[in-house]
Amino acid sequence: MEASRIEEVIGEFVNLKRSGKNMKGFSPFTNETNASFFVSPSKNIFKCFSSGKGGNVVSFLMEHEHFSYPEALRYLARKYNIEIEEKEPSPEELMQLNEREALFHLNAFAQKSYTDNLFDHEEGKAICLSYLKERGYRDETIRKFQLGYGLKTWDAFSRHAENNGYKKEYLLKTGLSIEKEDRIYDRFRNRAIFPVHNLSGRILGFGGRILVSDENKPKYVNSPESEVYNKSQILYGLYFAKNAIIREDNCYLVEGYTDVITLHQAGIENVVASSGTSLTTEQIKLIKRYTANISILYDGDTAGIKAAFRGIDLILEEGMNVKIVLFPEGEDPDSFAMNHRSNEVISFIEGNANDFIKFKTQLLKKEAANDPVKKAGLIREIVESISLIPDAIYRTVYIKECSSILDIPEQTLMNELNKMLRKRFQQKGRVSPLKDIPEPPVYAPPPQHELDPQTAEHQERNIIRLLLNYGSDDIAFEEIDETQKRVSMVVKVAQFIINDLKEDEIQLQDPVYHTILNEYILALEKEFIPDEQYFVSHENADIARIAVDLLSTPYELSKNWVKNKIIVPTEKQHLKISVESSLLALKAKEVERQITTNQHRIKGSTEEQDLLILLEEQKRLKNVSREINARLSRIITK
Ligand code: CTP
Ligand code: MN
Repeated sequence: MEASRIEEVIGEFVNLKRSGKNMKGFSPFTNETNASFFVSPSKNIFKCFSSGKGGNVVSFLMEHEHFSYPEALRYLARKYNIEIEEKEPSPEELMQLNEREALFHLNAFAQKSYTDNLFDHEEGKAICLSYLKERGYRDETIRKFQLGYGLKTWDAFSRHAENNGYKKEYLLKTGLSIEKEDRIYDRFRNRAIFPVHNLSGRILGFGGRILVSDENKPKYVNSPESEVYNKSQILYGLYFAKNAIIREDNCYLVEGYTDVITLHQAGIENVVASSGTSLTTEQIKLIKRYTANISILYDGDTAGIKAAFRGIDLILEEGMNVKIVLFPEGEDPDSFAMNHRSNEVISFIEGNANDFIKFKTQLLKKEAANDPVKKAGLIREIVESISLIPDAIYRTVYIKECSSILDIPEQTLMNELNKMLRKRFQQKGRVSPLKDIPEPPVYAPPPQHELDPQTAEHQERNIIRLLLNYGSDDIAFEEIDETQKRVSMVVKVAQFIINDLKEDEIQLQDPVYHTILNEYILALEKEFIPDEQYFVSHENADIARIAVDLLSTPYELSKNWVKNKIIVPTEKQHLKISVESSLLALKAKEVERQITTNQHRIKGSTEEQDLLILLEEQKRLKNVSREINARLSRIITK
């Protein structure tokens, strides 16, 4: 964990941009429109304000990749080239792995054995490696994408896996094997194998391409849906593309495995494939984590155009920018890239990227040219697409463009647009008083848990927040010593807080805060101050969670400070005031609590003697309360 840099690790999954001392991006856990996902490289934590999740680099991997704790550590070790000694799991250990893990293990095993078949088995070399080479793939490309070959024998792989301790149950669940009349045989036989990776490079499933075309057999056989393989949520190649997508701030979307691999080989790496299924919103959201720009690269045939049409609207709906590049008829990105130099491919893509309006009009203009009814239909169709864009400014820009290309007055298009927006709004069961559809709601942080006014939770939380954020910072005081001389002394914030609470015998009521404070007390006895990392990685999950929350809580100005118009640039510069006033606020609350308790006793008291004592006590408490509040207001107004 020390070797890992949290922004590097999370940066593999989320497009992070610098934002002051922190890095910021869109939450990978929710579908937010305002970035509220923060990573603090200095504190080594992340905090997602839209889902409430937060933690260190390991908890991120566990949350995001569904890793177990050891898996997350292994991932980091691999990333940072740290050797961890580990033995291969024995068959018994394999049985105990949870199902997801077991499926991943089996897929990894399968990939290795398919790759071995391809490079080391006579049949694989003769039939498949030669095929791939003929198509133009180089060894390093084949290795990088971990391509393989499934043998012809009907149960070669299934037997091999069972001999290695993999259970039939999992062979069936991954779909690597199929059961028929009590016999088990291989799904991928006599096919080139394309493993499909998740964002961290683990294998979710496979596609198998036939080697000699045969009308009676499908060109591709794919893994069935399983616990780990949901094709609507997978983009082929994203694992290899994500860094390039961030770098280029653009993602090329192609149709097939071979398009991805060939473009990669040509040095164009920001490319992913929807793998033959029509594009889904989930897939678009995967891309949205890294960029807001998608270019669809499809064949110029009818099927390719139709597919592009469907994709456009979904992308626009996500508030992303979309361009369309159609390849010459009969060519797809794969064949084009194989037959041209890299720079020719790049300039073809750049030169032929049209925004969706140009794309739709050019295609439809021809057939609609002399037919007013068709032309009206075309216009409506384009405006329909524009109406899906969530951002009003973009909508206006596109309306302008559409108006000039189609030579229709802007106002006419605008009226049509507003009509559609209103209709859609009403369909959603809301009546818009606005001419235009309103912007999506501005992100509001989830409400903090309700504070019980009777408890000092808020004040206690604030003390712990100060300890975690500034525990080992210094604060200076002036004191009058026995000889009436002014002396200045410097104390650590943690020391000051703990002494102060001890002096007034104040205990924190909240069990987690209490535990954290105790850890500080024990540590200070040994003369050290635990740092924030200690709590962020605490074995007690409640403590770790609260530590992350408090480390990422933006500093809130006290109401009094606001009331008195005190400008506080940063808390650190006014640390002493902050610490002192927070301690007083906690004490004020504590006294308030004692006053209430005493009040109850007074009400319930029947003995006159007791009553006198209680009333005396009440007077004392009220004085203390007054004194505390007076000091509090002196501190914050001086
Ligand atoms: N596909 C599929 N099943 C099929 C045909 C296609 O799952 N029967 C998916 C595959 O993911 C394939 C993609 O759709 O990669 C695109 O199909 P196609 O263009 O026909 O295949 P290519 O990948 O281009 O293969 P090749 O270049 O070898 O023709
Ligand atoms: Mn192809």
